[in-house]
Amino acid sequence: MKKLNVGLIGCGFMGRTHSNAHHQIAQFFDAPYKTVLRAICDVNEEKAKAFGARWGYETVETDYRKMIARKDIDLVEITTPNNTHAEIAIAAAEAGKMIICEKPLALSVEQGEKMVAAVEKAGVPNLCSYNYRRVPAVTLAKQLIDEGRLGRIFHYRANFLQDWTISTDLPQGGDALWRLDVKVAGSGVTGDLLAHCIDTALWLNGGVTEVCAMTETFIKERKHNITGKVEKVGIDDACSFMCRFKNGSLGLFESTRYARGHKALYTFEINGEHASIKWDLHDPHRLQYFDHRDQSLVRGWRSVHVTDGDMPYMGKWWVPGLTIGYAESFVHQLNDFLVNAAQGKPTAPTFRDALETQRVCERVIESGKDRAWKTV
Ligand SMILES: NC(=O)c1ccc[n+]([C@@H]2O[C@H](COP(=O)([O-])OP(=O)(O)OC[C@H]3O[C@@H](n4cnc5c(N)ncnc54)[C@H](O)[C@@H]3O)[C@@H](O)[C@H]2O)c1
Repeated sequence: MKKLNVGLIGCGFMGRTHSNAHHQIAQFFDAPYKTVLRAICDVNEEKAKAFGARWGYETVETDYRKMIARKDIDLVEITTPNNTHAEIAIAAAEAGKMIICEKPLALSVEQGEKMVAAVEKAGVPNLCSYNYRRVPAVTLAKQLIDEGRLGRIFHYRANFLQDWTISTDLPQGGDALWRLDVKVAGSGVTGDLLAHCIDTALWLNGGVTEVCAMTETFIKERKHNITGKVEKVGIDDACSFMCRFKNGSLGLFESTRYARGHKALYTFEINGEHASIKWDLHDPHRLQYFDHRDQSLVRGWRSVHVTDGDMPYMGKWWVPGLTIGYAESFVHQLNDFLVNAAQGKPTAPTFRDALETQRVCERVIESGKDRAWKTV
């Protein structure tokens, strides 16, 4: 089997999920490449060394430019904060590397357009890591919609709720808390959480034509970890928006980091003319399905346990009835990427697909500021 040398940039949360996927993939899937963990890179050298030793990377770098310049790197994985994605991805594309980049694609549509131009000019396989598409129950939802089981779609509803930033003492900036610093994150819950909901929605229900949003920053000032000063908070702590889809359906989205009791409650529900489906990240292997065409005596919501071998991806794992979880969505993503990359093709969501999500996010933020409908 051909070897593919991987250089991963960013040793945090996502660095772990991506590295774990490389360890798992050969055990469960028959990918066309054997991936080799050739280089790990992080600006924090100690962290990079410890991470490299734990996950089995052969070499350590602290400057992504040096890593990208190496001839022995084929695939660059970008798992760094949002403000670094554009410069790293463009450099990697210019060096002819395959690229997997974490979401959101960029800080802005303008940056995203440059990234799309760079990967398309270089013709390199690319993917933006909206991993929830590859949770088997979500992939099954796509299959059911594509089969036409729901009929005409009327409503798309999604939430992504958390509660970890309620304390006024929580600083912004620096390790892990860069998500609260608008210069690094680009936006708050819109780019961090709603971007996932939007990516899934565009995939399952098609394009969005217009949005109307309400955003709020509940804590206006926080100490900045890097400057040591109390600074204005520039991110949206909460965002709700309604939208219209190209297929005529109506969308309702809500995200917040101020929903006490919720850690990562991503849910969506789609209501069609014949049937409805709903999914919940806290119960990720189940897809809820209601079909009005069922005989009335037994009609009701079915809780489909997505573990059978004929269900998306599940034939590669254990036996029917046994579940997989969050981490495996990254294994599926990596496998699909490698299958397409072997034919020189990008994998959805490509950078171009992710640019559309970026565009919706940007209009949502503008709408929240202007308190007006925005065309996408
Ligand atoms: N797909 C998902 O579900 C998901 C979940 C969480 C985060 N993310 C995305 O993944 C990315 C990383 O998030 P995270 O939670 O892993 O962050 P993190 O803070 O846990 O880790 C980021 C790492 O990148 C390093 N870093 C920062 N700038 C760098 C640079 N210029 N060169 C090399 N290393 C650098 C930091 O030192 C840190 O170790 C973000 O874009 C985020 O939005 C996606």
